[in-house]
Amino acid sequence: MYRSHNCGELTISNVGEEVLLSGWVQKSRDLGAMVFVDLRDRYGITQLTFSDERDTELMASAQKLGREFVIQVEGKVIERTSKNKKIATGEIEIEVSLLKILNKSDLPPFTIEDNTDGGEDIRMKYRYLDIRRNPIRNNLVLRSKVSMEVRNYLSNIEFLEVETPYLIKSTPEGARDFIVPSRMNGGEFYALPQSPQTFKQLLMVGGVDKYFQIVKCFRDEDLRADRQPEFTQIDCEMSFVEQDDILEVFEGLTRHLLKKINNVEVGEFPRMDYAEAMKLYGSDKPDIRFDMKFAELNDVAKNKGFKVFDSQELVVGISVPNCASYTRKQLDKLIEWVKRPQIGATGLIWAKHNEDGTFKSSVDKFFNQEALAQWSEKLNSKTGDLMLVMAGDIDKTRKALGELRLYMAETLGLRDPKKFAPLWVVDFPLLEWDEDSERYHAMHHPFTSPKMEDMHLLSTEPGKVRANAYDLVMNGNEIGGGSIRIHDKSTQEMMFSHLGFTEEEAKNQFGFLMDAFQFGAPPHGGIAFGLDRLVAIMGGQEIIRDFIAFPKNNSGRDVMIDSPATVSEEQLIDLKLKLDLK
Ligand code: AMO
Repeated sequence: MYRSHNCGELTISNVGEEVLLSGWVQKSRDLGAMVFVDLRDRYGITQLTFSDERDTELMASAQKLGREFVIQVEGKVIERTSKNKKIATGEIEIEVSLLKILNKSDLPPFTIEDNTDGGEDIRMKYRYLDIRRNPIRNNLVLRSKVSMEVRNYLSNIEFLEVETPYLIKSTPEGARDFIVPSRMNGGEFYALPQSPQTFKQLLMVGGVDKYFQIVKCFRDEDLRADRQPEFTQIDCEMSFVEQDDILEVFEGLTRHLLKKINNVEVGEFPRMDYAEAMKLYGSDKPDIRFDMKFAELNDVAKNKGFKVFDSQELVVGISVPNCASYTRKQLDKLIEWVKRPQIGATGLIWAKHNEDGTFKSSVDKFFNQEALAQWSEKLNSKTGDLMLVMAGDIDKTRKALGELRLYMAETLGLRDPKKFAPLWVVDFPLLEWDEDSERYHAMHHPFTSPKMEDMHLLSTEPGKVRANAYDLVMNGNEIGGGSIRIHDKSTQEMMFSHLGFTEEEAKNQFGFLMDAFQFGAPPHGGIAFGLDRLVAIMGGQEIIRDFIAFPKNNSGRDVMIDSPATVSEEQLIDLKLKLDLK
């Protein structure tokens, strides 16, 4: 027997008991006549005491304990003289009578503490040590709870968890596939799923009716704070549903998770259509924890003799609360910030709404007080606010101002991680123009159904056709996306042809799905949440890496196991990726 209790459960009510504990040495303090050791396991920390007076030999062994040694102790629970109110076991300590070293440890390459001295690279290389730290362990606990609650909630309303294969054929979700060579079928390859999209639709044809799966997906795409090459989806599909049915179920799930896990009640989620989100926030995933909505100034700012505005498609601004006191230096810094290549704006105009109600701007030469008052009215600025205005092409300018809006909110501390602001963004465009390939791509994926009322635009103005597609956004992050699907062969064929597939290509890649549509496919639709992102946001963060036990770094490498790696020549020959010249 290794332990009678864990390191987080003994309290004042256990005083007098003989106990057995096992765990890691968090730290030890040698006070000469006494040694105090903090013993740690997943559940907490318990203080151990050794004294020269009680047992010299035991004391000597305790003095030799190093950080992260794995030990077992036997001893008596006693009340502490100086109590630590911060931890659950802080009122007691263990007077140790027996010490056994179960395993020694080398000196860890970084401290196993909440604020570790280890940088990202070293933490990733020794991830198993990193997982011993509270912040990472707590994230894994949170993730496990979320998965469990998702399973409970969806199972309770008749969703069936079904596994779908990992060795498949390409599913188009907009990224590159990871490819797996087939040994038994030389020269042929499987693709790892970017999502189980086609399979979940086939499950609907199979009559499963309500499906979910907590499932790994693989996408070979550029990595960012919220993107990993392998990540997890809560993937769902339902039959005989319309958009509202899906939104209702998954709003219910999200609300349940926030209540149960974060103890936060959120009301009905607001809905905003894509066009409005772009117009008001310059983003299809607006952070609505704070205001600073865009206002367009074309009417009041163009044709006033300021050439920078006159020639542009759009003049648009935001009013930033309480920033009229910004110094010249701060304003110049903002201008530099928007000109960085990542933001790509050509410039930034500012106008202060002074405390005395007057205005001071960087374009006073062209805009008098009356003109600036018109800006103020549009932007709804208050005294003490700072108006920031950009001009240029519609899409680029909105995007740049959207970035600036987030930057200002971050600077002002308005992105409160404890606040949850979910939002449904609906009515996404069906297609999106791709500059590189000079053709339309499906904005969500090719199985998404167009809105019937927009179908007539498909041949004439394809960019204007809206889809029955929706995203769940929370705190400015895309948490989930889904759509009502096409469920008949002819519409699906037409969609492939609009996307530039020849009949042959469509048949080769998705013939199986169109075949299935000929055998009574029910109307269906679904959604997938990014579990990593959802858990990160619930944990008050936006970087998903620390919510994944063993993540990849930004170059897609696992530096702990050192992968990807080369393979032996025999393996390559076996896989018919290399000729056998022997
Ligand atoms: P979509 O491509 O929008 O939809 O993906 C759904 C959700 O998955 C998460 N996600 C990611 N998370 C981490 N790393 C990544 N590389 C990554 N890529 C996506 C996001 C996203 O909202 N089959 C459709 C769903 C459907 O139509 O039902 C799909 O995969 O949170």
